[in-house]
Amino acid sequence: MRTHVIDHPLVAHKLTTLRDERTDSPTFRRLTDELVTLLAYEATREVRIDRVRVATPVTETEGVRLSHPRPLVVPILRAGLGMLDGMTRLLPTAEVGFLGMIRDEETLTASTYATRMPDDISGRQVYVLDPMLATGGTLVAAIRELISRGADDVTALCLLAAPEGVTVMERELAGTPVRVVTASLDEGLNESGYIVPGLGDAGDRMYGTAG
Ligand code: URA
Repeated sequence: MRTHVIDHPLVAHKLTTLRDERTDSPTFRRLTDELVTLLAYEATREVRIDRVRVATPVTETEGVRLSHPRPLVVPILRAGLGMLDGMTRLLPTAEVGFLGMIRDEETLTASTYATRMPDDISGRQVYVLDPMLATGGTLVAAIRELISRGADDVTALCLLAAPEGVTVMERELAGTPVRVVTASLDEGLNESGYIVPGLGDAGDRMYGTAG
């Protein structure tokens, strides 16, 4: 597994405002959207393309088009939903599947409560959206599900990652074609499984505590 931490002043600037406890939900959602578009630029560096000929008004030349089958984008509900528009802005022709996963706050284990995606995604490149790579449990379960359905190339986009979660993913997904792209590798997890310094509960900060 490869981990790529984006080192860019615009990413750091937006992330700092996201971390700020005074940032309200509308601003948090807008900044998440902008930040994901910046992460997506790097995360899609290896998106599959085909060479094509294109006629400009002046001459014919060689260009590229995204390959088929089209990439699949999979937000992990609830908080991954806040990353979807930022991702599909860069990949408008991607298809979208959904995985609903919840973390038990006592045991910190993840379970799936909803799945909406094709049974067979053989040969597809998949982009998983999950803002917080904390213990790694949710992402490991999600990526195993995608690989069991045939995905052969998975990139996870996370706003933040904890070293503990990266270590778990490296151990549990060793030898699989997985990449993590994140805006920051933070210090670690606290006793409640929150990323430190982190930004709190990403879902609550986007949508409030009703869900
Ligand atoms: N999930 C969150 O929303 N925040 C954390 O810090 C860890 C997991």
